[in-house]
Amino acid sequence: MNILVTGGAGYIGSHTVVELMNAGHNPIIADDLSNAHYSAVDRIGKITGKVPTFYKVNCACKAQLRHVFSQHKIDAVIHFAAFKAVGESVKKPLEYYRNNLDSTMTLLEVMEEFGCKKLVFSSSATVYGPNNPHPYKEEMPAIQSSSPYGWTKVMNERILTDYCTAHPDFSAVLLRYFNPIGAHESGLLGDDPNGIPNNLMPYIGRVAAGQLEKLTIFGGDYETPDGTCQRDYLHVVDLAVGHLKALEYAAEHNGVEAINLGTGNGISVLELVNAFQKVNGIKLPYVVGPRRDGDLPAFWADATKAKQLLGWEATHTVEDMCRSSWNFAKKGV
Ligand code: UFG
Repeated sequence: MNILVTGGAGYIGSHTVVELMNAGHNPIIADDLSNAHYSAVDRIGKITGKVPTFYKVNCACKAQLRHVFSQHKIDAVIHFAAFKAVGESVKKPLEYYRNNLDSTMTLLEVMEEFGCKKLVFSSSATVYGPNNPHPYKEEMPAIQSSSPYGWTKVMNERILTDYCTAHPDFSAVLLRYFNPIGAHESGLLGDDPNGIPNNLMPYIGRVAAGQLEKLTIFGGDYETPDGTCQRDYLHVVDLAVGHLKALEYAAEHNGVEAINLGTGNGISVLELVNAFQKVNGIKLPYVVGPRRDGDLPAFWADATKAKQLLGWEATHTVEDMCRSSWNFAKKGV
């Protein structure tokens, strides 16, 4: 199938493009490179033996998207392209709402124009908000968030749900990711944010590489077994494979379906730090500091639905995640 992958040069997008190519699909990347580098496209080529088709496109620009659809018969779309920094979204709410909502609506309009009816959407566990008990299940109300970034996921899910109601022959799979970490085994693709990382694993990678002095663990007094927050960390390659399965599901079903992609296990910050040190034989300097505003103490996925509907479950261990993250970070790419 010809699959348009918006945001395909980014962290999760690039890993997904590799899995699509390995499965014999023809991914077409549309990315404005606002938070990604073209080098990821070249690296996909090194891994797969073929450089994927790439367009420098802002998905909120209808003319640019139309051009891509006019050049290829697009069978389905995986929509990653979005701003994704939680803290930045609090400071720049309008930019986040404008970019993340406009891009989805413009994409839907252009898909409709060209008769494309299959979409996999990049959503987040953040839509479960602060009030649901974990493990999170898809039938729980997913109508809250704690940041403008998170609200754009809630709103995009709503837009896609309403669109599917109005267009019963359309298919949208809303993939709610938990905490993706890890990197491609080649060490060529991984999470390489601009500036000082906000997320835990890229921060750990920079500390381990000596580029940052030490890790601050945000809070050691939570009501969790070791006092640090627990999350459902999953390997980015497992997540990428989940997109492939979601695509196969969308090809055969109409309507909207929200599906968690997580391992179903909670891991604490301290457990992750210890696993990283052990598996890589590295001493990681860290201190336990105050809590970070907005962090929930603990959450993880109920991953049953993904297994039942998609036949997907995570296969990589925490050790795999830590090993591959360091294999990528140590190259300093
Ligand atoms: N943490 C630290 N020190 C750091 C960075 C993070 O202790 O320097 C801790 C956080 O306090 C948290 C855990 O590591 O307990 C994970 O933090 P991340 O920033 O890596 O991830 P979050 O769980 O905060 O955020 C993730 C995604 C968001 C998504 C959110 C809710 O990055 O996109 O989950 O689903 F919105």
